[in-house]
Amino acid sequence: MSAAATRKSAATAKEKDTPKAQVQPQQVSATTEEEDDLGPQLLSKLEGNGITAGDIKKLQEQGFHTVESVAFAPKKQLLTIKGISEVKADKIIAEASKLVPMGFTTATEFHQKRSEIVLLTTGSKELDKLLGGGIETGSITEMFGEFRTGKSQLCHQLAVTCQLPIDQGGGEGKCLYIDTEGTFRPERLLAVAERYGLNGSDVLDNVAFARAFNTDHQTLLLYQASAMMSESRYALLIVDSATSLYRTDYSGRGELSARQMHLARFLRLLLRLSDEFGVAVVLTNQVVAQVDGSAMFASDPKKPIGGNIMAHSSTTRLYLRKGRGETRICKIYDSPCLPESEAVFAINPDGIGDAKE
Ligand SMILES: Nc1ncnc2c1ncn2[C@@H]1O[C@H](COP(=O)(O)OP(=O)(O)OP(=O)(O)O)[C@@H](O)[C@H]1O
Ligand SMILES: [Mg+2]
Repeated sequence: MSAAATRKSAATAKEKDTPKAQVQPQQVSATTEEEDDLGPQLLSKLEGNGITAGDIKKLQEQGFHTVESVAFAPKKQLLTIKGISEVKADKIIAEASKLVPMGFTTATEFHQKRSEIVLLTTGSKELDKLLGGGIETGSITEMFGEFRTGKSQLCHQLAVTCQLPIDQGGGEGKCLYIDTEGTFRPERLLAVAERYGLNGSDVLDNVAFARAFNTDHQTLLLYQASAMMSESRYALLIVDSATSLYRTDYSGRGELSARQMHLARFLRLLLRLSDEFGVAVVLTNQVVAQVDGSAMFASDPKKPIGGNIMAHSSTTRLYLRKGRGETRICKIYDSPCLPESEAVFAINPDGIGDAKE
């Protein structure tokens, strides 16, 4: 909640250092005074009081780049870092807790903060309405459905709209795009950029892209992501798809528990990034036919991959299915505050939009 892209107020205050997509690619350094109490705080702030530059370096090597990341980490995780003693870990946690509010707040204050959460437009008015405004920053949204249901198209759309100014439904930040299936197409970004009147090459410059080749690699990329996010302002992290490599790296019943453990760690890292940096995390997932007996009674015998681990990690779960022609139907499958309803949208040449009458 405290992180940069999540809050409208933070973004407004940072406006002058945060060039819009149409102006130029962003290079926001998180070191100006003004940003200190708004966005994530750089780890170097902890130096002093018995915490040395060497300690900071050790933490950074393990993927901790912000004060928030150590404040939110369990102590036993810090203890696994070579050269960090029990006393030192206590010291680090104590100092980090001074800088990051972690106690109780009133529901009033929390309500106020929630009203300031930045929502990213999907390009479809109907879909945005269903989502209560758009894709929420600071949390994880999962989109699952069969092939050709528009999951990747939505990812491409959001990679562009997250760069828009906040008053136009954007997040005024860059996008980090992890592709595991080889379906990322910059051409699609250009088509969407044109629709919003954005400069195509700026839009492409604002999308950091990586192809992931296996589940270890896909996890490793998140450590790089955290370093990049501590250096400039990102509004969105996409993983398309989060589960496909798990299906190829782990096969059969025998490997199921190892797979779930690895997936849980991956999703925990994603959650940490969304908390720490306030980015929207959007991940896609496929469905499999339910093979157990319950399928006979279910109206739709398909379920998302990843089991309970996936179910518990995604804050909002969206189920996409095919409609007529270019139309698709999105159903809220699980959300802490949205009812289970549906919206129709369309996949157009210029991105996601509303279905024609
Ligand atoms: N340039 C375009 N203009 C209009 N529609 C397009 C364009 N490119 C792709 N589509 C449509 O998008 C659909 C594919 O959607 P998408 O790639 O998002 O599916 P997906 O849900 O990611 O599927 P998978 O599970 O295979 O990854 C196709 O039906 C295709 O017709
Ligand atoms: Mg896809």
